[in-house]
Amino acid sequence: MSTNFKSNESRLMPMIGMAWTYTWLYKLGEYFWQHSGQLQDYVNFVLCEADPRWDQQRMAAQIIKKEHPTADSTTLWLKPPAKWQGFKPGQYVKFECDINGSRVQRCYSLSNSPADFKQTGLISITVKAIPSGKVSNHVKDHLAESELVYLSHAQGEFSYQVASAQKDSTSEQPNDLASHYLFLAGGSGITPIKSMIEQLIEDRTFNHPKITLVYTAQTEADAIYLERLTSLAKSQADFDLHFHASQEHGFLTAKQLSQWIEAPETTSAFICGPSEFMDSMSNGLKKHGLSNEQIQIERFGAAKPAIKSTKGKLTTYFEPTDQTLINKGEQSLLEMAEEAGLNPKYGCRAGICHECKCKRPAGELIDAQTGEAIPHDQAHIQPCVTYAASDLVINEWN
Ligand code: FES
Repeated sequence: MSTNFKSNESRLMPMIGMAWTYTWLYKLGEYFWQHSGQLQDYVNFVLCEADPRWDQQRMAAQIIKKEHPTADSTTLWLKPPAKWQGFKPGQYVKFECDINGSRVQRCYSLSNSPADFKQTGLISITVKAIPSGKVSNHVKDHLAESELVYLSHAQGEFSYQVASAQKDSTSEQPNDLASHYLFLAGGSGITPIKSMIEQLIEDRTFNHPKITLVYTAQTEADAIYLERLTSLAKSQADFDLHFHASQEHGFLTAKQLSQWIEAPETTSAFICGPSEFMDSMSNGLKKHGLSNEQIQIERFGAAKPAIKSTKGKLTTYFEPTDQTLINKGEQSLLEMAEEAGLNPKYGCRAGICHECKCKRPAGELIDAQTGEAIPHDQAHIQPCVTYAASDLVINEWN
C-alpha cells in the first residue's frame, strides 16, 4: 500500500507543479496585455508583423466567403478569433477595416444566428451599399475572401429574452409574457431581425411565441434575404411573413398594423429600419395598445434626421488642432471633423455607443435625435448626432 501511495504521489507532484506554473504564466500574460505600455505595443507590433491574426489589441477576423444577396448588398462570412465571446441574436459588432491606409469603423448587425455560429464557427454581416458610403462601397467593391478585418465583441440590447429561459430546463415558459413576437423590418433593418427569427426557430422545441414578420422594401429585388425568409415561413407553421413593396403599394402605414396585432397585451414588437419607419411604426403600435416596454427599437443605423435650424455658413473652431472649419449646414460635428482630417474616434455613428465625445465651451448645438437645442450644462456632446446651430468652439475632442 505504502509503495503505491508513494508512486501516486511522485506522479501527482509534477502535474500539480505544471498546473501551478501554467496558471501563473496565464495570469502574467493577462496582466501584461491588460496594461498598456511601450513594451506591450512593441511586442504586439512584432506579433502582427509575424501574423496579423496574432494582434492582441484588435480582434482580427478572416473573410471566408463573400456573397451579394441583392444587387447593392454584400454579406461577409467571417471567422472570428477563438477569444471572440459570441453573441445574442439582434446584436451588432463594431467592424473595422483599412481604407487607403486609414482605419475606418462602422457598426453592423450580425445576420446569422448564434446557433449557426455554434455549428459553423462563422458569423455574417450584411451591408447595403449607400451612394457615397465610404465603408459600404469598400465592402462591396474591394474586400476579398481571405482578407482580414477587425471586430469588437458583440454589443447592443436589441434582442429577446426567450433564449435564457430555454437554458433553464425547469422552465416551460419564455421569461417574458409575450405569446406573439411581431417583427417590423424596413430595408436593411432586416439583418438583426433575421438573426432573431432564425434563432427562435432553432429553439422551437420549447414553448416559444408565434412569430410574425412584416418586411417592407421598395421592391422584391431590393429585399435582402426575402427568398430565405419566404422558405422559412413555408416550412414553419408558427411563422408568418408579410412582404410589402413600397414602390407598388406606398409606405406601410400605422393603420395597416392592426391586422397583425391579435392581442396587444401579449405582443412584443421589434422594429428596425430607417428612422422615419421606426417612428411611424412605434407610434402606430402604441395607438393599437402596446406600451413602450413592449416595443424594442434598433436605432443603430438610423437615417440622418433633417435639421431645421441650420443657418447657412457657420464657423467651428476645433481647439485641439487649432483649425477653423466652415460648417456646410448638413454635416454632423463628426463628419466635419473627419473632413478636416482630425481622425476622431467613433463607433455606431448613431448616438448609441458613446464612443465619440467632445466638449463645447461656446456656441449653440442641435441634437439630431430630438431636433432640440443641447443645453449648455450638458457636459459631453456626441458629435455623430450633433449639428451646429451657431458659430462654435469645440475642445477635448475624443
Ligand atoms: S459614434 Fe456612437 S455615439 Fe457617436
